[in-house]
Amino acid sequence: MREVFIRRLFRLLQIPRIHGAENRLAVRASTEFIHAGNQLLTESEEIVLEARHGRLFFSGQKLLMRRQGAIYIFGLLSMFEELQLSGLKFNRRFAEISPSHAHWFARLIIEAKQKEDPAKWLVAELSASGPPFVEIVFGNRQKSRIPYAEKAEMAHRMYSFAYNSLKDVSQGVIENRRPGIRKPLRIIQEIVDFAIQDPSILLGIATIQDYDDYTYTHSVNVALLSICLGQQIGLSENSQVFLGVSALFHDLGKIDIPLEIINKPTPLTEEEFKVVQQHSLNSVRQILKLHAGSDLIARIVLGPFEHHLKYDLSGYPEVNWKRPISLFGRIIEICDVYDALTSSRIYRPVPVPRDRALGMIAARSGKDFDPVLVKWFINMVGIFPVGTFVVLNTGEKGLISEGGSIEKNRRPKVLLLKEEKSGRFSTAKVVDLNRRDPETGQYRRTIKSTHHASAFGIQPAMCFMEIDHR
Ligand SMILES: [Fe+2]
Ligand SMILES: [Fe+2]
Repeated sequence: MREVFIRRLFRLLQIPRIHGAENRLAVRASTEFIHAGNQLLTESEEIVLEARHGRLFFSGQKLLMRRQGAIYIFGLLSMFEELQLSGLKFNRRFAEISPSHAHWFARLIIEAKQKEDPAKWLVAELSASGPPFVEIVFGNRQKSRIPYAEKAEMAHRMYSFAYNSLKDVSQGVIENRRPGIRKPLRIIQEIVDFAIQDPSILLGIATIQDYDDYTYTHSVNVALLSICLGQQIGLSENSQVFLGVSALFHDLGKIDIPLEIINKPTPLTEEEFKVVQQHSLNSVRQILKLHAGSDLIARIVLGPFEHHLKYDLSGYPEVNWKRPISLFGRIIEICDVYDALTSSRIYRPVPVPRDRALGMIAARSGKDFDPVLVKWFINMVGIFPVGTFVVLNTGEKGLISEGGSIEKNRRPKVLLLKEEKSGRFSTAKVVDLNRRDPETGQYRRTIKSTHHASAFGIQPAMCFMEIDHR
């Protein structure tokens, strides 16, 4: 029940960003939160959530960071940190609150983040209309932010869960078992929640390659990138989940293509290419066979159908209509091409460096890709995307660990790598390329050249797990 309460509190706090108090989803989130709280309050006088040493304590007991639920704990800890408080205490008055009351509380929390002294402001607002049902715990405020490496590990666990859930569904399809999609749906929901907290880690983890099987790795990467892009453009949480599932299954139809063609190291013949082109339609056919509600299927099936159709409706499968491609289709198309270009394939062992892949996408903007989405995408991954291997003017080598922002004129951060005698690289420290030399006013470090990390035998996602730069 404690986990349920935490999850519902987390959800409640996301709602006012998108919906007003009257909205059906908002009322449901508030009602569910109140229900969970009231159940707990039948057993104790109060519910105290408190951060201590980067851990969340529930009425004095430490909550374990299990895979499921960890994202909500981590979300609340980040929120406490942002609000500069130690925790929250829900008291007996909680039993009297209404859904609109709960929504009002969630709105206050969001508003407080903009204030200079958020905790003090919250105390005043909460008690403005009488004794409040929730109190601020100040305590001995310690740093509650979870170390970067731990968050990266959490993201990594989600990655492998998403990977395995897709593998299971594919296996079920191959064996004609009509598999359900409860597991992929659940993990995509968690990834969406994670993306709200820290999209940069997801972008870092989306650089994973050749986990085992290219199609599955590629599909998870495309799902992660699509979710992050969906979030950038302000899609609702629900839509992000449908987008993520749609992206995860976009190449499901590849299971119908003979492996000799998929793994062919030399260029495909015309006949073989025709077979490959059938995979979008195959994906549709396979998705329709999944054991899931027709509503859900309807929302996820269009993206896979359209993902090789270009913005100007060229590409495949051939269509004879003028209707523009759906938003999901346009998002998945960009993320698909980006991941495909930046992955090593049997016919192209050294992939295209990430910044050059972005350049190639930008060059086809308006023809192959939706120009507005391309701008958002470039802004999201940065001109130098996370995971790019760079050589600096100082001779140092490293990986872009934060992409910077064109809009804010922020240059990226780089995780420096140390070359060992054996030729292998180990991780050193993170440096900020915005730093200038105080005497000359020049940037201390600039990027001299970019390469794909795999050319140096490096898996960026693995390196990011070793750092703690926040
Ligand atoms: Fe595809
Ligand atoms: Fe693909």
